[in-house]
Amino acid sequence: MKTLVIVVHPNLEQSKVNKTWAERLKQEEGMTLHHLYAQYPDFKINVEKEQQLLVEHDRIVFQFPFYWYSSPALLKQWLDDVLSYGFAYGSASSKLQGKELLLAISTGGPAEAYESSGRNGYTMEELLRPFQATANLCGMSFLSPFLLQGVLGMEEAKIQESAEAFVSYLKSQKLQTAK
Ligand SMILES: Cc1cc2nc3c(=O)[nH]c(=O)nc-3n(C[C@H](O)[C@H](O)[C@H](O)COP(=O)(O)O)c2cc1C
Repeated sequence: MKTLVIVVHPNLEQSKVNKTWAERLKQEEGMTLHHLYAQYPDFKINVEKEQQLLVEHDRIVFQFPFYWYSSPALLKQWLDDVLSYGFAYGSASSKLQGKELLLAISTGGPAEAYESSGRNGYTMEELLRPFQATANLCGMSFLSPFLLQGVLGMEEAKIQESAEAFVSYLKSQKLQTAK
């Protein structure tokens, strides 16, 4: 299983969670880390290179902080450019058919804010539907996301613990697909 972890954080130096996760994942074999903002600060994406990376891996992970109930902007640009007709979907079979998509997300809001009766009024499952629909269209399995919630002011030790949990999660033999 070759895993591509696409890290999408506009300011990784200031990051606590996503930086810790990325540094921990770097120690693992069989994982390619790809820092999208470092690669494309001007948002000019090398589509061929990105598509090649996708083809070479079995599991694709989008790792990002939750921004305005979605991902930071560069991931949207990446989706628009890289998942093109004829490559990711269309008349011919998708080049992504049978691959897995996993989201790993940190949210400032705590888990209870993402219950139907909570402050945000919508669950993470509902808010992440566009990613799930994208995976479906491309013939990918959409795995249950890995979430760390309520991260604002979270103790360093808890963030480190979550990095270990993230690695274990990625190494689980059989990850569940999301409902
Ligand atoms: C522009 C912006 C938008 C944000 N929007 C949300 C949001 O919609 N929901 C939420 O729970 N947290 C939101 N946050 C908080 C981030 O999710 C939080 O700071 C991040 O997960 C921390 O990860 P890091 O330490 O890797 O930066 C937002 C933060 C920023 C800067």
